[in-house]
Amino acid sequence: MAWKKIAEKNSIERGKGKEFKIDDRRIAIFNQDRYYALDALCVHQDGAIAPGKLEEDIVECPVHFWHYNIKTGKLLDYLNDVKLQTYKVEERKDGIYVDV
Ligand code: FES
Repeated sequence: MAWKKIAEKNSIERGKGKEFKIDDRRIAIFNQDRYYALDALCVHQDGAIAPGKLEEDIVECPVHFWHYNIKTGKLLDYLNDVKLQTYKVEERKDGIYVDV
């Protein structure tokens, strides 16, 4: 794992998510009480979760409305023990970094 800059500061609106590409990975960053990072693709049919509706810790995949906890990556519908990978995120002076 290595810390890499993924986004400029203030590039993700509060209460929203945005998708970024880093080293062939698609990562969704959500700006809630702080930043959270997880794999950007829904396990159902690879829907992009970043534009999904965010309510507190839960994002809804916009394609068929499965739900994930953005802090743990855990899928909350239908399947047990399924998680999207999460990543550590830090806001630094010059941008937002993830440990990938
Ligand atoms: S692709 Fe996300 S719920 Fe179907």
